[in-house]
Amino acid sequence: MANSALLTILSKSRNRCRPGLSISAKIRVHDDVKETVELCRRLEKAGLDSLTVHGRTVRQRAEPVDLQKIRAIKDSLAIPVVANGDVRGLLDARRTREATGCDGVMAARGALENPAMFHPEGQEGTPEDCVKDWIREYCIRRVSF
Ligand SMILES: Cc1cc2nc3c(=O)[nH]c(=O)nc-3n(C[C@H](O)[C@H](O)[C@H](O)COP(=O)(O)O)c2cc1C
Repeated sequence: MANSALLTILSKSRNRCRPGLSISAKIRVHDDVKETVELCRRLEKAGLDSLTVHGRTVRQRAEPVDLQKIRAIKDSLAIPVVANGDVRGLLDARRTREATGCDGVMAARGALENPAMFHPEGQEGTPEDCVKDWIREYCIRRVSF
């Protein structure tokens, strides 16, 4: 989506939302970090409440996520910024937070693989109980009459 379209959607949503309703957005980074920071500043100015940044460009798939770009964005904004990309466990979450200074991390594939990945004691794999609970709750209870 072009930057101007994103800004238009945001400002129109801001005007229509009742006060107090928060608006967040999620973006990928540009090749040029300055361009990315500029876009994020404009989003913030237009009333964005929080931003999640996936540290890959649109064309990137398996390349390592660029934490320095996320850091540059975080350092340029006052609103909360959430870092995303390659967080597969608690250690990755901590590493990502430290490297970016972000207010939080978001995980997609990691959480699909291991729903217990943010357990306070750190769970490297999906615990057996987690699988049993899921089967009990979603596969048995919800289909029983
Ligand atoms: C099943 C699945 C669905 C996704 N759907 C969306 C989506 O609707 N919107 C979006 O911005 N990103 C979506 N993503 C991308 C993730 O939010 C995330 O940016 C990307 O997977 C990198 O983070 P990860 O390394 O934690 O997986 C999706 C990813 C997965 C695996």
